[in-house]
Amino acid sequence: MQLREQIDEAVGYIRKHTKMRPEIGIILGTGLGGLVKEIRKEMVLDYDEIPHFPISTVESHHGKLIFGTLGGKKIVAMQGRFHYYEGYTMRQVTFPVRVMSKRAGLGVKTLLISNAAGGMNPQFRRGDLMIITDHINLQGDNPLIGPNDEELGPRFPDMSEPYSRKLASVAEQVASDQSIPLQHGVFVAVQGPNLETRAEYRFLRGIGGDAVGMSTVPEVIVAVHMGMKVLGISIITDECFPETLEPVTLEEVIAAAAEAEPKLTRIIKEVVKRI
Ligand code: HPA
Repeated sequence: MQLREQIDEAVGYIRKHTKMRPEIGIILGTGLGGLVKEIRKEMVLDYDEIPHFPISTVESHHGKLIFGTLGGKKIVAMQGRFHYYEGYTMRQVTFPVRVMSKRAGLGVKTLLISNAAGGMNPQFRRGDLMIITDHINLQGDNPLIGPNDEELGPRFPDMSEPYSRKLASVAEQVASDQSIPLQHGVFVAVQGPNLETRAEYRFLRGIGGDAVGMSTVPEVIVAVHMGMKVLGISIITDECFPETLEPVTLEEVIAAAAEAEPKLTRIIKEVVKRI
């Protein structure tokens, strides 16, 4: 089935359940579900009831699409996202972004996306928040491979500003008003699911990465393809310095994300109000 038909079926199903036209889409990463409590919910759909939506497999993620208001704005939030390492195709990983978008579906023009990431910049510490200024795609795949539907976006989308400088400056203003320190940096996306070796961290730092993670970049590529503005924020959950690297567990990553999450929630809530 053509991508466009799948999107239309998913959008059709969602529209049967809600008339809401959200303008802002939010994707929450590992351990970052707390924002969900702040949403005044109008309607919640399980991923598995929406046609063509993949179903999330990672235990630390819930698969729900939440429609409601946050800071007085109409939003749609994904609670739980899909990772390439789970075995989904890039098309599946990014399908929800297509569905959310104004161009193909529900009305979203702005995407706010968060993740848990390893910090490679020696200035970074566990628990820091990093505004993603740019990315490097090392996932070895791309959601735009295959026939291009010109109605969804161009064949060769420009990537000179995948993360909106304007949105980043709104986030900076919010953080400064709330005395929340922010880091800035380049996010490198790898396939995972293993964490990196010391040699890999050295390499990823050497090519210009400040943080590394296993998500976000496919969704951002598709968002840019469809003309959406993106704000990306990483929570630094572990310190990935080759010389002093220590073992890290998923539990520690989730705990670090959960600890830092109230800061992120406050920022996102206020950014939503101001855009
Ligand atoms: N690599 C290293 N540390 C991490 C990652 C990663 O992909 N994600 C969260 N912490």
